Amino acid sequence: MPSDPRHPQAPDKPLPRSLRGEAVWPPPVWLMRQAGRYLPEYRAVRARAGDFVTLCTTPDLAAEVTLQPIRRYGFDGAILFSDILMLPWAMGQGLRFAEGEGPLLDPVRDAAGLAALRPQEALARAAPILETVRRVRAGLAAEAPGTALIGFAGSPFTVACYMVDGRGGGAFHETRRLAHADPDLFGRLIALLAEATADYLVAQAEAGAEALMLFDSWAGLLPPAQFRRWVIAPTEAVARAVRRRAPGIPLIGFPRLAGPMLAEYAARTGVQALGMDTAMDPRWAAGAVAPDQALQGNLDPLALIAGGAALEAEARSILEAMRGRPFVFNLGHGIEKTTPPEHVAALVRLVRAG
Ligand code: CP3
Repeated sequence: MPSDPRHPQAPDKPLPRSLRGEAVWPPPVWLMRQAGRYLPEYRAVRARAGDFVTLCTTPDLAAEVTLQPIRRYGFDGAILFSDILMLPWAMGQGLRFAEGEGPLLDPVRDAAGLAALRPQEALARAAPILETVRRVRAGLAAEAPGTALIGFAGSPFTVACYMVDGRGGGAFHETRRLAHADPDLFGRLIALLAEATADYLVAQAEAGAEALMLFDSWAGLLPPAQFRRWVIAPTEAVARAVRRRAPGIPLIGFPRLAGPMLAEYAARTGVQALGMDTAMDPRWAAGAVAPDQALQGNLDPLALIAGGAALEAEARSILEAMRGRPFVFNLGHGIEKTTPPEHVAALVRLVRAG
């Protein structure tokens, strides 16, 4: 496998090898939201930064919290510390994270709102985030040479959910109504996002990301025809652009709660690897995707909170289902803030024992 042309001496790392279709065993392991509030050292830096957007746009601090879980656990992947909502922020949409309320955005719901976005300025405004990517890559070279840097973005559909509804919550009625009622307007938002997302992912690869992930947390809200139109088609466009402009950098698609639509998503989008959510049966997924498409997932974050024998049984059953195929151990959704840090250490030991 050719190594990264920007780092010709770097040996190929386990995570990108798995993502490119090799059955590396024991499998590489990292956890979604591995940098976060369950770690006291994260809470300390978070308090110093003040607000969350400042943390994401201060390269020293963002690089530090990206590396914290690597120092503790030696994960195979270091995911850039940022947020999927930093792309709308970089396009000029008002964004704040209110205590106890999650993200709040100034909603985009009509042609005027769409016209006010400035996608052409997004990469310039995202410069501090791309600087974080460079610093983390350099930090890994010095501290954890086997750990690969993962860049990411939200999928066009999931980002549109927050942009249109203006807040989280999980129902996203405004977005789903708009997609049915005015597919022309919604389609223009999705097309704009697909292009900006591809540019943003390619920029992360150029800054040093060695794998990329597209978070589609709300894909499972859509009926099949809408799923094809608003999830599969734009993801295919993003994946095509990434393949052409960042060749050799694997892309992980994570269409959360897609259920049986995972098969079509895997066959048609052109992503190299598929994230499995907590509800997915790994054995079913192994039959639904191509044998050289890596699977990633999908331990229940609540089993990680529980720990002990329950955690061990769940983790082992996933490992047994995935043995012999390209696989990356992960959770089925982000780590919860009440997770005891020592349970994470126990999980990593268990996975590394194969
Ligand atoms: O460690 C990592 O995984 C990297 C960083 C990362 C964050 N968010 C940091 C974060 C990543 C990859 C994300 C992705 C993300 N953000 C998703 C997709 C994955 C998923 O969870 O479904 C979504 C939907 C978001 C949007 C978002 N960001 C929400 C809804 C919230 C509030 C929820 C909460 O727990 O408060 C955030 C905030 C956020 N993003 C935090 C972190 C660590 C917590 C904020 C804080 O520290 O105060």
